[in-house]
Amino acid sequence: MRHLYSGKVRDIYELDASRLLLVTSDRISAFDVVMAEPIADKGRVLTALSVFWSQQLADVAPSHLVGTDLPGEDELRAVGVDPAYAEGRSVVVRRAEMLPLECIVRGYLSGSAWAEYSRSGTMHGQRLPAGLRQSDQLPEPVFTPSTKATSGHDQNISYDEAAALVGDKMAAAAREISLEAYRRGAERARQRGIIIADTKFELGLVDGELAICDEVLTPDSSRFWPVSAWSPGSSPPSFDKQPLRDWLEATGWDKSPPPPPLPAEVVAATRARYIEAYERLTGLSFADWPGAGRGQ
Ligand SMILES: Nc1ncnc2c1ncn2[C@@H]1O[C@H](COP(=O)(O)OP(=O)(O)OP(=O)(O)O)[C@@H](O)[C@H]1O
Ligand SMILES: [Mg+2]
Repeated sequence: MRHLYSGKVRDIYELDASRLLLVTSDRISAFDVVMAEPIADKGRVLTALSVFWSQQLADVAPSHLVGTDLPGEDELRAVGVDPAYAEGRSVVVRRAEMLPLECIVRGYLSGSAWAEYSRSGTMHGQRLPAGLRQSDQLPEPVFTPSTKATSGHDQNISYDEAAALVGDKMAAAAREISLEAYRRGAERARQRGIIIADTKFELGLVDGELAICDEVLTPDSSRFWPVSAWSPGSSPPSFDKQPLRDWLEATGWDKSPPPPPLPAEVVAATRARYIEAYERLTGLSFADWPGAGRGQ
């Protein structure tokens, strides 16, 4: 086992030629800045949700997931990972050849899509009906890919640009899988009081077949809104990060690093939101998930 890469949230290890270990940390970012304090168990919640959705979506597309059994303790320690820390926040996956696309699906008009629409009446270059308001539900969910930038920000692109990048057949397959996975997830979430306004899938080829990789329909890869707070014309607070963002805004912080140190109440309130999202969406108790409540 060797360390391959660390992203903003995940640490990735190579187990052998065909398998990776993804360890999801408790790091949290807001306004694109990673906070100094972790949100205890956040990585376990993201892992548990991704595992849940992968099972729910098994008939939409294969998953990269192999299982949640950890490698041996000595193997973990050899790469500097504490086995107790790793429990419940790690998945063994099949290594995929990732598409160079973020497979975004939007059901509601928000974020960069709203910004573009207000400027030009389009979304990822595609014309939308006139008169839509911020956070409005779109007539139907739309596959709106972006590039996967290795540095800097991802760029929104049109479907045709995505097809030019990965080929017509691959783009069509990615669109079909992403739309169906979003529809399924959004429908279930809606019944449980959460709007999934948009989400990002990362698809990759495993044994020549397109599989759903990375995290799946989590609050980090999606915009979750409480149904009760949705009101077109304004931007609803995100279900998970609302306490954190509200507090950060109130401090007057200029949103460049370093971020202000987070008070324990803000950390606790944010942790509770993540757990609530998991429990609402899955109907399961987070306390039953391996390592839950252990903290770091
Ligand atoms: N099955 C897989 N095979 C190969 N790479 C994968 C697989 N699943 C996920 N990945 C990759 O692992 C990385 C996950 O790490 P992480 O989410 O922390 O970083 P990131 O996505 O690069 O950055 P960020 O999410 O902070 O913008 C991503 O680059 C993702 O594309
Ligand atoms: Mg990521």
